[in-house]
Amino acid sequence: MGTSIVADELSHLSNQIQEISDRKGDFTVIRNTPLRKRATAKGLIYGATSQHRILSSDKKFAARFAQECAILVPEGELKWRTIHPSPNYFNFKPGDWMVEFAHAHGMLFRGHTLVWHGSLPRWFADTVNSRNVEQILLKHITTVAGHYAGKIHSWDVVNEAIHPPHGRTDGLRNTPWLQLLGPNYIDIAFRAAAKADPQALLVYNDFGLDGAAYQDELRRTAVLKLLERLKSVGTPVHALGIQAHWWGGVTRLDSGKLKAFLRDVADLDLKIMITEMDVTDKKLPKDVILRDRIVAGIYEDYLSVVLDEPAVIAVLTWGLSDRYTWLSKYQPRKDRAPVRPLPLDAQLNRKLAWNAIGRAFDNAPKR
Ligand code: G3I
Repeated sequence: MGTSIVADELSHLSNQIQEISDRKGDFTVIRNTPLRKRATAKGLIYGATSQHRILSSDKKFAARFAQECAILVPEGELKWRTIHPSPNYFNFKPGDWMVEFAHAHGMLFRGHTLVWHGSLPRWFADTVNSRNVEQILLKHITTVAGHYAGKIHSWDVVNEAIHPPHGRTDGLRNTPWLQLLGPNYIDIAFRAAAKADPQALLVYNDFGLDGAAYQDELRRTAVLKLLERLKSVGTPVHALGIQAHWWGGVTRLDSGKLKAFLRDVADLDLKIMITEMDVTDKKLPKDVILRDRIVAGIYEDYLSVVLDEPAVIAVLTWGLSDRYTWLSKYQPRKDRAPVRPLPLDAQLNRKLAWNAIGRAFDNAPKR
């Protein structure tokens, strides 16, 4: 690392240390106040995803999770492949354990996801056809959403149904659901979910809605058009889930465009949830201090724009600690350095990202 960068880094760090010592009082408060409390103080909900396997085996992590998070979303336990492994059998065991864990620690619980083209079980392709697809979809939603009715804060009813590169004028992704049922599969899913669990907040969830890139703009336009259509025919959609998987050094923030999009969604009388935030760091410098600072800056810059919108009710990160993140497997670094996308490091220590998320909550307008 060139001397000038080291000098910059040292002067930045000394400013940070000075800032921290100046704010000794505040810093102490900041150090001890978990993210769930700082979010709750503003009428917001902070939480994260995790897995039954992890929370049931890693006690230290489970304790930190319950300390920092006010809502839990299973990373895979409520997806078709895990919960509906054969046509007439539903495996509720891991999901039930997680809802008990959440409620036992005063956490809300949210479901992910009732309709998605990903994580479909092997039997799906051999069994589902245009004659039985609606009956199978309705049975799945009625059974799964019915089973957790009254225990769930919100459901990602439909996930990732928009994909403009597939060339449709409505921007819909060419999935087995679209092929077998047509665009109406989205309406069918939301109506069935509302019937099975009238209390749950029903969410349309998608990614690539945050950046300045042209592709993100196309996705925002297509998602907005979908939400407008659903609302115009009275389909019971209550919120938009913005995944916010950020690519460090790639995704660029255009706060004007993002603010306008959030306002357009809010004007449809919809709530907004940040459902899967994390920062892929494979394109960022290897130096941990520099990398953590850049990752923290991305969290703070993004959340300070998003939390300005009163329709935003919750922020979830796609994991809490670098010890457990899908990015280790799916977006590893070329230099094989461990990835650092989340608020806590692999030893469960609070990182600059944790501070940044906390500060964004502290500075957010009260709901
Ligand atoms: O459970 C099996 C295990 O029995 C088997 O030994 C192992 C062998 O590969 O696979 C395990 O299943 C894996 C599952 O995660 C549970 O860990 C699947 O292979 C793997 O594909 C699956 O990956 C998940 C992926 O969605 C697909 O469902 C990731 O953990 C999860 O982080 C990721 O999350 C998605 C959101 O649902 C939607 N938005 C994007 C986000 C990131 O891709």
